[in-house]
Amino acid sequence: MTNNIVLFEPQIPANTGNIARTCAATNTTLHLIEPLGFSTDDKHLKRAGLDYWNDVNIVNHKNLEAFLEYLGEKPLYLITKFADRIYSEADFTKDEDIFFIFGKETTGLPEAFMQERAQDCLRIPMNDEHVRSLNLSNTACMIVYEALRQQGFPNLELSHNYENDKLKG
Ligand SMILES: C[S@@+](CC[C@H](N)C(=O)[O-])C[C@H]1O[C@@H](n2cnc3c(N)ncnc32)[C@H](O)[C@@H]1O
Repeated sequence: MTNNIVLFEPQIPANTGNIARTCAATNTTLHLIEPLGFSTDDKHLKRAGLDYWNDVNIVNHKNLEAFLEYLGEKPLYLITKFADRIYSEADFTKDEDIFFIFGKETTGLPEAFMQERAQDCLRIPMNDEHVRSLNLSNTACMIVYEALRQQGFPNLELSHNYENDKLKG
């Protein structure tokens, strides 16, 4: 089973860097739908995620249409605050490969695309009186960890023996 995070036209390198780190930690494949708001050589991206960049399986797609062609019939969840269904109600254990697509920082996902796939949209609950939205990299982390929790954290270390274990002293 592979979890896949898909970023639609990401603009802020630090967000993509953080998400790359989450992907490296969780064996998640990262898909970037162009155009990107930065170069993957960008020094900010390097600062945020270079240590992890080479440990992540990254797939670039020229545009949304090219990504959808690549996706075929595999399951795709659209992560958006506009959804009526909350993310923890979805069952992420059924399929071999699951894709989660997140919108760009300024404008989110294209409206027509969301309307066509309204039944696959998922919301992360929040207080809309206080914020317009959650941070993109936080939402990606929450979604992938909910999927992993449901899947039983496959291929992840549930504990690790550290040389200098600060808990054991
Ligand atoms: C900064 S938000 C974009 C806000 C944008 N103004 C909009 O209309 O969606 C970037 C992305 O984070 C995700 N996101 C942020 N808050 C969310 C929430 N409460 N539920 C689900 N996804 C959220 C979505 O994928 C969104 O497209």
